[in-house]
Amino acid sequence: MNLSGRDFLKLLDFTSEEIEYLIDVAADLKAKKKNGEEHKYLQGKNVALIFEKDSTRTRCAFEVGAYDLGMHVTYLGPTGSQMGKKETIADTARVLASMYDGIEYRGFGQDVVEELAKYSKVPVWNGLTNEFHPTQMLADMLTIKEEFGRLKGLNFVFLGDARNNVGNSLMVACAKLGLNFTCCAPKDLFPEEDLVKTCMEIAKENECTITLTEDVMEGTKDANILYTDVWVSMGEPMELWGKRIDLLKDYQVNSKVMVNASSDAIFLHCLPSFHNTGTKIGKEIYEKYGLKEMEVTDEVFESSASRVFEEAENRLHTIKAVMYETLK
Ligand code: CP
Ligand code: NVA
Repeated sequence: MNLSGRDFLKLLDFTSEEIEYLIDVAADLKAKKKNGEEHKYLQGKNVALIFEKDSTRTRCAFEVGAYDLGMHVTYLGPTGSQMGKKETIADTARVLASMYDGIEYRGFGQDVVEELAKYSKVPVWNGLTNEFHPTQMLADMLTIKEEFGRLKGLNFVFLGDARNNVGNSLMVACAKLGLNFTCCAPKDLFPEEDLVKTCMEIAKENECTITLTEDVMEGTKDANILYTDVWVSMGEPMELWGKRIDLLKDYQVNSKVMVNASSDAIFLHCLPSFHNTGTKIGKEIYEKYGLKEMEVTDEVFESSASRVFEEAENRLHTIKAVMYETLK
């Protein structure tokens, strides 16, 4: 498998075999890290990390992953560079590509990361856009594979705002890797029809299914994996919270949902998560709407079925695999 020089913008650009390969490379790099085996395979290379939105996991995974591979990193935050203000994406891409071996971008439209890649002669990696979050998928699938020893044939259920980067990407990832994907959400928050259609075609090839339902009990029956994400994403206005709470309060992952799923079901969440009032926004929502926990209850988040911190750690190993395979 040769992915050298490739961009990593969305999973739709990759074959099932290529995605499986990246997950396996990540597992191998994880084992090396755990065994204390040095893997500075990209010594002396440089990468630029552009973050127009906040991040804990993705930024840290790119930074630590790059250091582990022997690379140097420059972080460009939402302020402090010329990009988008005094300089176009196309110009920024050409400048950065003349100094760096790879460029990560987290921001708004998928068109921005696609434009960056179009003008960059070095690989560009999508660290999250409004539409897709492909590096997250590799970590999620690695976590599932570690738990069940396989991916094909498992029942994957996403509850909540399925019209967003994580919901969209999970549907693509499941279709590509042979997991039966169920989206459990109100109709207004189902993924875009075109993407559903594309995923249904891919799923058919891989002998799995895509189901959209508003019925939580029907949708979560026999689930092996229950997954949710925040109800309002980065870049969306705070005023949306009231509307989203009304739409999604019945789609919370709670003990009733967990009991309805398969007895071996695990809980995943890309994080960050509003499972208590311990955050600034969590507290504001509680004061305004009286909700102490949102997309998942604290009980489920902290339960023995929760694999959210294993999943978060896997961001490092999988992002490292993407950088290694595209830069080697
Ligand atoms: N899951 C994820 O992308 O987390 P960050 O926003 O902290 O990077
Ligand atoms: N849908 C979330 C994912 C965060 C990792 C957001 O875009 O804010």
